[in-house]
Amino acid sequence: MEKIIINGSNPLYGSVEISGAKNAAVAVIPAAVMCSVGKCVIDNIPNIEDVNKLIRILNTLGARVTKVNNTLIIDSSSVKSHVANSDDVHNMRASYYLIGALLARFKKAVVDLPGGCSIGDRPIDQHIKGLEKLGANIKIEHGSVIAEADKLIGNNIFFDVVSVGATINVMFAACFAEGVTVLENVAKEPHVVDVANFLNLMGANIKGAGTDVIKITGVKKLKGCSYSIIPDQIEASTYMMAVAACKGDVLVKNIIPKHLESVSAKLIEMGVTIYEYDDSIRVKNNKRLREVNIKTAPYPGFPTDVQQIIGVLMSISKGTSVISESIFENRFKYFDELKKMGVNVKIEGRAAIINGVERLTGCKLKATDLRAGAAMIIAGLVAEGETEITSIEHIDRGYPDIESKLRKLGANIYRECEDIKEFKNII
Ligand code: UD1
Repeated sequence: MEKIIINGSNPLYGSVEISGAKNAAVAVIPAAVMCSVGKCVIDNIPNIEDVNKLIRILNTLGARVTKVNNTLIIDSSSVKSHVANSDDVHNMRASYYLIGALLARFKKAVVDLPGGCSIGDRPIDQHIKGLEKLGANIKIEHGSVIAEADKLIGNNIFFDVVSVGATINVMFAACFAEGVTVLENVAKEPHVVDVANFLNLMGANIKGAGTDVIKITGVKKLKGCSYSIIPDQIEASTYMMAVAACKGDVLVKNIIPKHLESVSAKLIEMGVTIYEYDDSIRVKNNKRLREVNIKTAPYPGFPTDVQQIIGVLMSISKGTSVISESIFENRFKYFDELKKMGVNVKIEGRAAIINGVERLTGCKLKATDLRAGAAMIIAGLVAEGETEITSIEHIDRGYPDIESKLRKLGANIYRECEDIKEFKNII
């Protein structure tokens, strides 16, 4: 069992390089399964566990996948199977993209129901509704989604809720549907646009990604291409928040500042100084943060994935801050852990009311999900004394090299492996 140990209270200085976007990579990799001619060379792939799981899943389907540093070369011409049911499939969320991708390519797909962070109900009814509208027959049996279609035919689909996953999944299937598909009330997240750009480079015909309406004209096949994943806006937000919380002066590099506007705006409201450049943002803070209120919303609103992280900043700010979580109904579990450090919070349904305290104190914490784990790291960086975080496999699903990136900024953080400790005790 591995854990992260932090000795808090160090300010952060220097620069940090942001990796490729997790949520784009975990959609682009399944999209490559739709390519039957040539190879996809995908650059800026983040070094995270969710990517490793997808590589294993694609290998099981029959693809040939090579990883060289941050580049993946995927040859899906050899994929024969439409069945994805390994442990990896139900241990991650984004495996649901294989439903749309395999259905598009083979007109049939059997994919285990997805797992991922436990932050709410997370239904996939909108994915199913969209795929059915394209002509697929879908049933759920023995924990798998079974999708089949004689042929896929373009249609007009209005999503009942704005869903990143449903938008991308139905977009996959629509790429090979006869005629035109119009998707309305879609997600506008940067990774939706990134995936559409990747599909278009492979030969798809998708227009409107990044707006409320996406129009897809079906094509017969997709061929290989070279692509580079966009930078991770959530990883960037995490480092920006870490600097704001710990104080210091850090240049966050390899980013698209526009994707971070809602986060920068809130940090400025809290009293942080932000300088925006073409592909970097400098974050500077030397004083106690001011209280702020946030309401999570689909892009370009404040991202729910940063809610837990800003929750830590609010915990040490002056005054009372309020979080209104409108996307996932169960995304406040991390506060039960943070309370052990002295956080003063009251949860009322979908709202968290946080009275800022002057100091947090280190203690033993358990990461309850991916972003909660990142929030706990920031809390540990701020706290007096030692913080120990277990269940860090959640963090490894989405943050490449988090300890070494933070150490480079001056944080006192390291990873301890129980097995090595036991081994050292024996010799
Ligand atoms: C994706 C992101 C996740 C992020 C979330 C919201 C990936 C791999 N994960 O998750 O990091 O927190 O977007 O930005 O990209 N919903 C339905 N029915 C559906 C689908 C969704 O009711 O069929 C609801 C969800 O319960 C939630 C909301 O729609 O309330 C948004 O969910 P969605 O955008 O689909 O999230 P994910 O794709 O699971």
